[in-house]
Amino acid sequence: QALEVMTATHHKTKPDPETLQFGKTFTDHMFIMDYSSENGWHSPRIIPYQPLTLDPAAMIYHYGQTVFEGLKAYRTDDDRILLFRPDENFKRLNRSSDRLSIPDIDEKMVLEYLSELLKLDKDWIPTYEGTSLYIRPFIIATEPNLSVAPSTTYKFMIILSPVGSYYKEGIAPVGIYVEDEYTRAALGGTGMAKTAGNYSAAYKAQDKATAHGQAQVLWLDSSEKKYVEEVGSMNVFFKIDGEIITPSLSGSILEGITRKSIIELLKSWGEQVTERRISIDEILNAVREGRLEEAFGTGTAAVISPIGELSWKGEKTLINQRETGSLSRKLYETLTGIQKGRIEDPLHWTYEV
Ligand code: COI
Repeated sequence: QALEVMTATHHKTKPDPETLQFGKTFTDHMFIMDYSSENGWHSPRIIPYQPLTLDPAAMIYHYGQTVFEGLKAYRTDDDRILLFRPDENFKRLNRSSDRLSIPDIDEKMVLEYLSELLKLDKDWIPTYEGTSLYIRPFIIATEPNLSVAPSTTYKFMIILSPVGSYYKEGIAPVGIYVEDEYTRAALGGTGMAKTAGNYSAAYKAQDKATAHGQAQVLWLDSSEKKYVEEVGSMNVFFKIDGEIITPSLSGSILEGITRKSIIELLKSWGEQVTERRISIDEILNAVREGRLEEAFGTGTAAVISPIGELSWKGEKTLINQRETGSLSRKLYETLTGIQKGRIEDPLHWTYEV
């Protein structure tokens, strides 16, 4: 369907690129399209960034029928716009939607709409070191109806936010708190979907991590509270005796695109990468025996976030002397180098807008 474009007459002041935070300011335009069971997805349009008016009975407010994605646009040194594996994000959006009984979108069309939006707001893509334009596609259920059933109407939107590093620590190691009471997601639940409730249900555990002086939560599996799943809102990797281990996708773990890229990159470097269950005991033993070389979280927002300390049952253990490990640094530099178009892209991950 033809994209309608309504450009903004007023242009907002852009934030200072040197002091950018995460997700606090938004560009001049947004993308929006509607769904109804009669007409499917329709009326794709780019409009000035603006508030929404929804009926208070809109189903998103009551039963949380919603999904979202997160990806970044980078402006290269020669002024091109690059996206990192955007097809993967829209495929995952459809997998999340399927779990939440939301109708799927046409992945190719949506990438074209996003490209038009980016061209229009190109000047908002910051170029300062460590910054990018964070892209947030999301879908909400809009039917005014308090019945517990899937909505018959939806809105799909894309908003854009110029961002700096997600954690104030940047690539400096953070401490983690192993959570043994709350669970992020259970088998058969929504853990593999990017849906709002997975994130808001994590705040209580995050409060505990903060109270224990740690930056992030390390999540264990819901049934045995034994196997590691994720760290904060990221996937997690451990390097033990030269082997790089990440929890296998259990059904309750989000399939990160950074996770997938790191596995592929490490394999292309000839490293030994294993996707398998890994228990907190195995990790603590490896730390005690000096075999745990590095641990780090991976995600779109932070890219790589090294882990420098671990709290478990009142005991604190340092990891790699709280230093950024060489593998974490190399992965961070390689991924951001490819994303920024500064180094070769051997696995053809970038998409030029
Ligand atoms: C990520 O990009 O790693 C995340 O999951 C964080 C995002 C929800 C802000």
